[in-house]
Amino acid sequence: MLALQGKKILLGVSGSIAAYKSPILVRLLIKSGADVKVVLTPSALDFVTPTTLSTLSKNPVNSSFTEIKDEEDNPEWNNHVELSLWADFMIIAPATSNTISSMASARCNNLLLACYLSAKCPVFVAPSMDLDMYKHPGNQENLTKLESFGNIILESETGYLASGLKGKGRMMEPSNIIKRIVENIKNEFPLKGKNILISAGPTYEKIDPVRFIGNFSSGKMGFSLAEAAANLGAKVTLISGPSSLKILNNSINLINVVSANEMYNEILKYFFNIDIFISAAAVSDFIPNEFHHLKIKKSQKLNEISLKENIDILFNLGKIKTNQYLVGFALESNDGDKNAYNKLINKNLDAIFLNILSDKQNIFNSDYNHGKYITRKKSISFKLTTKLDLSYKIFEQIINDS
Ligand code: CTP
Repeated sequence: MLALQGKKILLGVSGSIAAYKSPILVRLLIKSGADVKVVLTPSALDFVTPTTLSTLSKNPVNSSFTEIKDEEDNPEWNNHVELSLWADFMIIAPATSNTISSMASARCNNLLLACYLSAKCPVFVAPSMDLDMYKHPGNQENLTKLESFGNIILESETGYLASGLKGKGRMMEPSNIIKRIVENIKNEFPLKGKNILISAGPTYEKIDPVRFIGNFSSGKMGFSLAEAAANLGAKVTLISGPSSLKILNNSINLINVVSANEMYNEILKYFFNIDIFISAAAVSDFIPNEFHHLKIKKSQKLNEISLKENIDILFNLGKIKTNQYLVGFALESNDGDKNAYNKLINKNLDAIFLNILSDKQNIFNSDYNHGKYITRKKSISFKLTTKLDLSYKIFEQIINDS
């Protein structure tokens, strides 16, 4: 169950007899590679013990806002905000009628509800109650309300209930809960199965062992594109020129290079096995005519450095491409639309992102960017936003078009 590998899951357990299935759910989540933390409502303690759940989850289990952690009996606050922000998903299973009603009306009289109200991640809710309670219009209204908040209801199953009656109200079986969550994750990962190659940063072209020709590119746009692509489920290789940035998503394959030629050679190793290539690197257009193997001394009175044109990586890739979807970047100070469109055609690209160089906003080293996404058929403007947010917007376009 690769989809759950490394996912941080906060499981909330409320006081229903179905809580006896919570340890099984924890066990299955852990087996699928997830990291699980559990919070209980006080009444859940009547049905399942924190020791069972902490043993299975390998994490402390909390059921109250405070807890004694030192020898002096000082109560320590269980930080519900921290717990909620930690989680990639929250699952409330079983969710009683009481808990569902509190969630729908933002009541907060226990740690589970406080976590729920602070959660920014997707929340899955598995109702568990007797059939008539389940059908009650008040309960149905509350479930609809939770759906309107964006929560995902894991619909109760039909079968024998604790009352001895038969009907709809049983908590969804733990294995089915896992299936539903995995399905949801897959839908959230539209780039799953895609191989994406991204270039980033500047290139440095050596003059002598200590000097080079380079530019101010920080690599932030390329790194943000790589993060977004990986978060959307793609297998990402990022080839970066010199940059101090670190990758956050460990699944990204980061390759460091220095010069344009090194970058091109690394790209070629991957190019014929990828679906999408995004050229966000600020490749140096010029390279010194000759490389001085020894450091040039001041006394040599070097007044000029003779330059020649560097390799145009993207132009070359445009010539040899087969099915790869090629996206370039264009940095323009004037005639942006026209110049970007010409680059799109000349380099045989599928799309190009136009960055407009202005005096007011320095895009180098900034966390923000804006511009236009241009294809042969359309041009879409994007307002100033974070480079990561812009990356998601660019992928939205690529997913639609490719
Ligand atoms: N690019 C490249 N190799 C180069 C120069 C640029 O692969 N030697 C790529 C960039 O990564 C970018 C696109 O080509 O995706 C356009 O880069 P840009 O610097 O805007 O344009 P240039 O082709 O260099 O043309 P000019 O500098 O004259 O505007």
